[in-house]
Amino acid sequence: MSLPPHFSYRAGHLFIEDVSVASIAERFGTPTYVYSRSALLDAYRLYADALQGRTARGGALVCYAIKANSNLAILNLFARAGAGFDIVSGGELERVLAAGGSPDKVIFSGVGKTRVEMRQALKVGIGCFNIESRSEAGQLSDVATSMGVTAPVSLRINPDVDARTHPYIATGLKESKFGIAYADAIQAYDEVSRLEGLSVIGIDCHIGSQLLDDGPLLDALDKLIDLVDALEARGIAIAHLDLGGGVGIDYGDGDSSATIDVSDYLHRVFDRVDRWRDRRHDGKPIKLLFEPGRSLVGNAGALLMRTLVLKPGITKNFAVVDAAMNDLLRPALYDAWHAMVPAKEASSASMLTWEIVGPVCESGDWLARARPLALDEGDLIAALSAGAYGMTMASNYNTRPRAAEVVVDGSMVHGVRDREESRQLFAGEHLLP
Ligand code: LLP
Repeated sequence: MSLPPHFSYRAGHLFIEDVSVASIAERFGTPTYVYSRSALLDAYRLYADALQGRTARGGALVCYAIKANSNLAILNLFARAGAGFDIVSGGELERVLAAGGSPDKVIFSGVGKTRVEMRQALKVGIGCFNIESRSEAGQLSDVATSMGVTAPVSLRINPDVDARTHPYIATGLKESKFGIAYADAIQAYDEVSRLEGLSVIGIDCHIGSQLLDDGPLLDALDKLIDLVDALEARGIAIAHLDLGGGVGIDYGDGDSSATIDVSDYLHRVFDRVDRWRDRRHDGKPIKLLFEPGRSLVGNAGALLMRTLVLKPGITKNFAVVDAAMNDLLRPALYDAWHAMVPAKEASSASMLTWEIVGPVCESGDWLARARPLALDEGDLIAALSAGAYGMTMASNYNTRPRAAEVVVDGSMVHGVRDREESRQLFAGEHLLP
């Protein structure tokens, strides 16, 4: 199989950039998440290069959806490259600020925000709140008014298009909890634009994740364009249009090999937007925002693990590894497929079909199914394409400390998160008197 960019076999050993994964496992232990700095920056540049030159058209901004991977080193890398950020909690806001991100380039998404989070975001001068209901707008209006400030808002519209992805990560259908129904959008804008303490500046949507075809994204764009026209006709000016994230990545499973080409997709968006602005708005600029998560980090990372015990059986062969569902939840939760590759290309062990499972006490604790591999106990293997929604979805189930994280830059290796220690996990717990 082909490896993601910046991963390779050299003389039979798996490398990330110029460092063997074996040397990383030796130094940092396992399980450990490893990321390639070049892969992260290359993925960001695909967006940034396409967005360059939009200034005369109103500008454009990549707001990295940090839920995909919120390690401070990665946020800082993107902040230095000029990115904005998409957040969904006060905790994520604190991370962005700690990593040196500018608050005015942050958009606050999410279907429920607490008043404390609203206040926190207003205090630092957040770029925009993506509002998902009239009630939320009312609450934000109260908070902003009580602070004597104005909150910049966009309404998240649910365009009712089928993103054709896993049902758990499709968010743009009528029956999903997200956004304001398309049919209610104009009325919602009318109401929200009359609320005190709010300034309506944008429109947004996010229809789902791991999309393999940009057709649904462009359908959503067309629907938002029609809405903007209807709103402007009513005197509600829209300064930015935010298309959300959703661009899928190639997981190496065959199904996702023909995923969206980022620069083709962005140019198709620009093309439609420019023709629309020229035709109906005398070329008046509108700013474009994108909220990519997975496509910036997914293929830049891998999870390293070692086999603990091999249990060949009658119907199935189990390879129990030291990573588990608490480290990488995607297989258990979405039936997700991650390539499993050995650190050493050649092995004297015989080739068998393995179920790669973790030590957690759940039958759902599996990382890969039916993989032909030649494995010995103690072998190092890597789950690829694990840079997105890997570490951020990790938990401490079974009181398992979360993994270490490492960034490779050429031949240098930087620890960017220490492995947790068990003691930290119960440090905030108290005995009864
Ligand atoms: N913007 C909003 C409002 C979102 O809800 C999301 C992701 C994104 C942007 C980024 O989408 P992306 O570019 O990564 O597709 N845990 C799942 C994915 C959940 C996505 C949730 N929302 C997984 O592991 O596949």
